[in-house]
Amino acid sequence: MAPTKQKALLIPEKLADFIVGERAVPTPGPGFVLVKIIAAALNPVDNYIQKFGVFAPDYPAVVGSDGAGIVEAVGEGVTNLQVGDKVVYQCHWVADRSTFQQYGLADAARIAKIPDNLSFEEAATIPLGLGTAAMGMYAKKSARGGAELYPPWEEDGIGKYSGQAILVTGGSSSVGQFAIQLAKLSGFGPIITTASPRNEAYCKAAGATHVIDYNTVPYAELPAAVRAITGGPVPFVYDAISSSESQKASWEILAPGGSVVITLTPEVGKPGAEAEDGKRTVWVFGLVHQEENQEVGGRMYAKLTEFMATGALKPNKVELVPNGLAGIPAALDRLFAGKVSGVKLVAHPQENV
Ligand SMILES: NC(=O)c1ccc[n+]([C@@H]2O[C@H](COP(=O)([O-])OP(=O)(O)OC[C@H]3O[C@@H](n4cnc5c(N)ncnc54)[C@H](OP(=O)(O)O)[C@@H]3O)[C@@H](O)[C@H]2O)c1
Repeated sequence: MAPTKQKALLIPEKLADFIVGERAVPTPGPGFVLVKIIAAALNPVDNYIQKFGVFAPDYPAVVGSDGAGIVEAVGEGVTNLQVGDKVVYQCHWVADRSTFQQYGLADAARIAKIPDNLSFEEAATIPLGLGTAAMGMYAKKSARGGAELYPPWEEDGIGKYSGQAILVTGGSSSVGQFAIQLAKLSGFGPIITTASPRNEAYCKAAGATHVIDYNTVPYAELPAAVRAITGGPVPFVYDAISSSESQKASWEILAPGGSVVITLTPEVGKPGAEAEDGKRTVWVFGLVHQEENQEVGGRMYAKLTEFMATGALKPNKVELVPNGLAGIPAALDRLFAGKVSGVKLVAHPQENV
């Protein structure tokens, strides 16, 4: 039986500092389950919510996008899960569904059982990074939609884009790692990425064929470096970094009729519409529970356990955050300062409370 009260990392009011406090354990309504959260991964958006006051609909707010844990209670109509199942899922930014707390609600339509080969910590690295990579590549075209490629989790989807080159910027970022792995499943090749040399092996293990060091080859020179590999422009770019410089380079190397996925505010093209030369900017919204993403997100989650079990999709490298919920703010500060390289920070909400 779940307790009635729990510890949570709260943002008491808009723009306030995080504090560890207490809140009620929610009850799952129809279609939802209650999860005892064992591992929660940290993401840049957690900082944006606290530091810029975005996304949270109410205060006190709770953030945390990625959760892995054990089903503690099952709401009406849920047939795919039982108490005791080990699961991984993405939050929605309402407090009851966030993961920097001990218990949270999860939508049973987009959740996956964790296979035996992955730990809770590894599984927790997956949801937002994978969701953002996947929605940008495979969700339906719309103002905040995807490029509508044919997904690898559908029948005959593996290898669909064989022989087509792809550029993924930021191959050692969480989103970049999943964009590379999805590109590989979709058959793209060569898969060219940018990263620091210390993360070259990490990018290659995900499926990159070429890793360009952005510290020595600045983004202004990237189109020429990519052309030297491919012999021409590329039909698909996933710009996981989406700095001004990386967006310019991505747009320049993109072939007419091709798509570039942008993770931050687009500075090139017109999101959702074709530019004159047929190039398309996709402004991804990585939340699989967003209305436009729900169907494709649900179909991906239905295949996720198998992809994790077979190693078709691998988790990010894990770095554990010490001291439970109380350790998260300092770790988020490190992430905000750009001092996290080639790992996903993962906290244990049940620890030290
Ligand atoms: N639109 C959405 O829905 C959505 C969803 C999720 C994330 N995002 C955004 O997507 C971006 C990536 O998020 P994330 O969680 O994947 O980040 P992350 O894992 O925290 O990114 C850290 C990595 O970024 C790499 N990096 C930093 N600057 C780089 C550059 N100029 N070129 C290449 N690599 C660079 C570093 O690589 P090295 O250490 O190898 O140098 C480091 O490994 C963030 O800006 C985030 O806010 C958007």
